[in-house]
Amino acid sequence: MANPKQKMTVPRFRGRKGDGPPLVVLTAYDVPSTLAAEAAGVDAMLVGDSLGNVLLGYSSTMPVTLDEMIHHARAVGRVRERALLIVDMPWMTYHVGIEDSLRNAARVIRESGADAVKLEGGAKRVPVIRALIDAEIPVMGHLGLTPQSMLAMGGHKVQGRDEECAAQIERDARALADAGVFSIVLEGMPAEVARRVSTAIDVPTIGIGAGAGCDGQVLVYHDLLGLLPHKSPKFVRKYAEGFEQSVDAIRSWADDVRDGRFPSDAETYS
Ligand code: KIV
Repeated sequence: MANPKQKMTVPRFRGRKGDGPPLVVLTAYDVPSTLAAEAAGVDAMLVGDSLGNVLLGYSSTMPVTLDEMIHHARAVGRVRERALLIVDMPWMTYHVGIEDSLRNAARVIRESGADAVKLEGGAKRVPVIRALIDAEIPVMGHLGLTPQSMLAMGGHKVQGRDEECAAQIERDARALADAGVFSIVLEGMPAEVARRVSTAIDVPTIGIGAGAGCDGQVLVYHDLLGLLPHKSPKFVRKYAEGFEQSVDAIRSWADDVRDGRFPSDAETYS
């Protein structure tokens, strides 16, 4: 059973398969999100390449660069204390060759202080996953709706709806687990497919839009807190109306400035 004060490590995270409550993973990209996630006691923080969408205004994760990932991961790494820190490898940083992938992943680990990297894709990624693990870099997999494949998939589409695709996801999950990943994110697939995959492998599955049958759940920080004005996807539960609350607060401050109520004496040096 997890000790909430103990530093989360890759072996401890991996050891939670079938032991204890579902794992809680949240994306984090900067100091405020890291401090909030740590204070709330998450098990792991993922510096996701979703930062391209929620922070940088890109319409997909595909333009995100390694330098952008490292820039944000370093901020998270500076202030994280207990939670496991996983950083996404962006598109084309693990596709060109083993040497290039090793060099890129080593930069992420060395420059951010991350515990592990995450990369997208199934059995075809096994050679690069094995090489990273041989170089002592723990790897998390990511299957199903993999946003870096959105051109090939024709958009952000739920995967595994037919038996052929569901069976392929299961084969991919088995191949990644055999290659030594310590966990796999299952994104955008029917709940019964995620449950079947979770039963088939001996490493924790972390679901997003994949139902309740996974060994843990991950959400994007901005989705959970409602920080953007966009309509949320079906799988998101908003626990705050962060965007509306921010607009109200900024409007109140602007009204106070315009009406001479800010700053008061208490907010002024004598
Ligand atoms: O980039 C990201 O935030 C992710 C999660 C949604 C799993 O990959």
